[in-house]
Order: sequence, then C-alpha cells, then structure tokens
Amino acid sequence: MSIHDKLNALQQLKDQSEAGGGERRIEAQHAKGKLTARERLDLLLDPGSFVELDRFVTHRSTDFGLEDQKILGDGVVTGYGAIDGRQVYVFSQDFTVFGGSLAEAHAEKICKIMDLAVRNGTPVIGLNDSGGARIQEGVASLGGYADIFLRNTKASGVVPQISAILGPCAGGAVYSPAITDFVFMVRGLSYMFVTGPNVVKTVTHADVTTDELGGADTHGTTSGIAHFVHDSELECLQGIRALMGFIPSNNLDSAPVKECEDAADRCDEELLAIVPDNPNKPYDMLDVIHRVVDEGELLQVHAAFAGNLVVGFARLDGRPVGVVANQPAVLAGVLDIAASLKGARFIRFCDAFNIPLVTFEDVPGFLPGVEQEHGGIIKHGAKLLYAYCEATVPKLTVITRKAYGGAYDVMSSKHVGADFNIAWPTAEIAVMGPKAAVEILFRRDIAEAKDPEQKLEELERDYRERFANPYHAAARGYLDDVIDPRETRPRLISALHTLQSKRDKGPPKKHGNIPL
Ligand code: HXC
Repeated sequence: MSIHDKLNALQQLKDQSEAGGGERRIEAQHAKGKLTARERLDLLLDPGSFVELDRFVTHRSTDFGLEDQKILGDGVVTGYGAIDGRQVYVFSQDFTVFGGSLAEAHAEKICKIMDLAVRNGTPVIGLNDSGGARIQEGVASLGGYADIFLRNTKASGVVPQISAILGPCAGGAVYSPAITDFVFMVRGLSYMFVTGPNVVKTVTHADVTTDELGGADTHGTTSGIAHFVHDSELECLQGIRALMGFIPSNNLDSAPVKECEDAADRCDEELLAIVPDNPNKPYDMLDVIHRVVDEGELLQVHAAFAGNLVVGFARLDGRPVGVVANQPAVLAGVLDIAASLKGARFIRFCDAFNIPLVTFEDVPGFLPGVEQEHGGIIKHGAKLLYAYCEATVPKLTVITRKAYGGAYDVMSSKHVGADFNIAWPTAEIAVMGPKAAVEILFRRDIAEAKDPEQKLEELERDYRERFANPYHAAARGYLDDVIDPRETRPRLISALHTLQSKRDKGPPKKHGNIPL
C-alpha cells in the first residue's frame, strides 16, 4: 500500500469518526432542535482552533451484541481549542452514538483531557448530552462516572470547570456537573434530575413534567443548580465564551485584563439620587453597580435565583472583580438560606481563582421565620460568613445604606478581614433598625407615655440621629472612610491598585471544615 493509499484510508477513518451515529441519527438530533456534538464545538471555540484527541477510541465490550457496534470516538468528542486565543480542554457528548451514554472508553477519554487540563493549568468545558450510564457496560459505566467525579473534585479550585447541559442529564450523571464551578442550561432542551417523573410518580404519587422537575428554569430559579439559563444553544455557548473573559485559566494565574475605555477617575452624579431619603423605600442596587463598574457591564451569575443577593463578574479599570451585593429591591435585601448559599459559592470561586471581591451592602439582617430556622439558616448563613472569612483575595466593601446586626459582620466587614471598607453618608450601621431598637430599650416609657405613637416616633428619630449613621463605625476604624457617593468608582479602583500585591497566608492545614 502506498503512502497515498494509507492517507486515503486515514481520511476514510476520520470521515467515519466524524459521522458519529450516522445520518439518520444526526437528522433525529436536528429534528429535536438540537445541534450535534461537533456543531457545538464549532460555536464554542475560536474558528479552526479545535484539535481532536482520541478519535479512534472504541469500546471494548462484547455484551448485548456491542461487539458489532463499534463507533469511532465512542460517543464523545474530546480535545482542546481556544476561546479568545486562550486554551481550553473540551468534551462534547455525541447523542447520536448510543445516546451519548457513558461507559468505560468514553469515560477514559474525558478523564484524559481532565488530567491534561490540570497538568497544563487550563479550564475544562464539558458539553453534556447523554442518556447516562451505558446500560450494556454495567459496572464499567458506573466506574467511569466515579473516575470523572474524583477528577472533578481534585480539579476543583485548580482549574475552572464549566458544564453545559444540552440534553438529558439524569441519575448519578448529574453529580459531575454539580461539582463543577458553573452549570449552563438551555430552556426546552436540557433537564437534570436524580430520578425522573416516572419514579417520582411511583414513589411520591406526584404528577410532574420533565421540565417542571428538572428543566432549565426550575434549576435557574428554584434549586439554584443552574448558574446560567439561556434560550438557545448558540446563546449558551456564547455565554460560556463571555464568562471565560472574566476568569483566569488556573489558580496560579490572574484573570485576563481588558483594555478599558472607561476612565478610572470617572465620578457619577447620578449616584447621589439612587438611595431614597426614606430608609424603608427600596431601590435597585443594580443601578449602583452599573454606574460604578467599567462600562456598566455586569455578568450576573444565578440571575434568577435568590434575587435578594446579586452576584456576578464585572471589571474595574480593566481588571475582573467578583461583585456581591444585597438587593434592596427584592425582600428588602434580606439574607436568607438561598442568598447565603448563592453568595458563599460565588465568593469561594472568586477566592480560589484570585478574583478580588467587591461588596455593595444594604442589608436589614437575616430573614426571620420558622421555615428559615427549620431549614437551617444558621448553618447556611454560616457558609456565607465562613466564605468571607476564609477569602484571602482583596476584599472591598461599600455600605450604601443599612448594615444591621449579624449581617453587618457577615457582609465583608473589617472584622472578617476586608481590606478596604467605605460607606456613603446615607449608611446606617447598628445592631438593629431604629424601631426595633427603641421598642426594646424603651418599652416601658412608650407604654406609659400619653401618646405612645408620638413617643415612639420621637425615640426613633433620636435613635436614628444618634446611631443610624456611619460615624460610630468610622470612629473605631471599622470604616476606612465615609465618602461622597459620586467618588465610589475612583475610590474602589485606587484601593484595588494598592491591594494588587496583597499577601495573606494562614497556618498550614489540610482543609477547613465549612459548615455544610
Ligand atoms: C445505552 C442508550 C442509553 C443508555 C439511550 N440509549 N440511553 N444506550 N445506555 N443509558 C440509546 C437508545 O437505545 C437509542 O439507541 C439512542 O440512545 C437514543 O435513545 P432514544 O431513547 O431513542 O432517545 P430519546 O427518545 O431522545 O430518549 C432519550 C432518553 C432515553 C430519555 C435519554 O433514551 C432514556 O431514558 N434512556 C435511558 C436513561 C437511563 O435510565 N440511563 C441510566 C440512568 S442511571 P438507537 O440505537 O435506537 O439510536 C445512570 C447512573 C449513573 O446514569 C450513575 C453514576 C454514578
């Protein structure tokens, strides 16, 4: 055989591997409104950058007639490519081959690129579309999953891991994406659950649709499993590219700096008009954030989950920061279980990957209630506290209005190691709000007053004047300064510059014991 014949044979094999499960199954995939594994990679990666690995891998199983059904690649396309010129390792499950089901060889391919990613300090992006464990390969499929789970865990905090769910993801298969840093889902296309609607019906007699049980909006709003929810695969894959623009390639790297056209010394007159004079009136903290960060750009994470806390990525003078902000427009910005979990997970990601944290604070406290107490607000709130205490990245805090009670301590106060704490003159920092405070302190005086209503009002006014301001905290150095709100952006940027060389190492330990 001449070299040309051999090249032809090689080309034939490549064509065969690229055909996946064949024309009929590709058509079926398209008919469901879904892209193929390779079409997805084309949209995710810079044009022409994808390099495939292991295209000739096949399974080695002989059960259930599998020996006659060997398909090159074994149902997953793996390799590396670039996003805006930065290298990433990727896998994309091919639903046209055994329903994208995972078995021994398929798992080995994924493990190989995960190992390479960790060794080379490169993010891993997984595009999931799979019927789960390949039934014919039995325990080898289960072992394959566990091999991936172990690698997900070991890679956690070393390289960013991103999962897109672009089809079914059920049973134990959900636990690999669940360990990764960010989960993307697409409305009407993807679902995730431990057990499907039929099992739910049998066990609990509840009637629930696939979408209600584990669709994109369910996980984007109710469970918080999905960090990003999109309307189409294209939007989802572009969303992954946008996220990559804010995060570093590994834990020893810093996040990519973007050329910034927004002046570092830009002051904003409108910031004076956002906080209402009436302390009980809500306002939208996003208005504050948008006016402070570069070009008003904030990539919200968990945008539809626990709206009382906003988290997301933005830039200050071109450098990515993680923004954590109470949202007075939702539940008055109170901290509850969902917000605590949302905040803690985000803070830990930023800390693991050298992204400074900027906290905007207006918080009346933790949410009271039987449901919250029985649901474990103590341990969940402690996660947020722990995450802030543990984070050694630069921590900057701006108090715009309320900072009451334990929530004052938790939300990146000086006491939990924040580096730069400032407040607007509208800040109210105290153990509790004026009404609650005077009702406790002066219960008898109020009851015995001629006009209790009027007495309460007087006492409240007095308390507000004396305590509901930032100057008691500033007098103790708990605040580094009380600033003109218009100067928030330049003040944060100058502080960030001074904190760039921050070093903060605690004593060596295996790992802490976050209250899970
Ligand atoms: C082997 C599978 C498969 C699987 C699907 N296929 N799932 N092959 N193992 N797990 C094959 C089908 O036989 C079919 O082959 C092709 O993939 C497409 O499947 P369809 O059923 O035609 O597609 P669709 O109607 O879109 O339904 C998709 C599906 C359904 C909802 C995912 O296939 C399904 O319910 N599959 C089983 C899901 C499951 O129970 N998996 C195990 C979960 S437990 P042909 O040749 O016809 O194209 C699990 C445990 C993990 O994963 C534990 C980790 C610790």
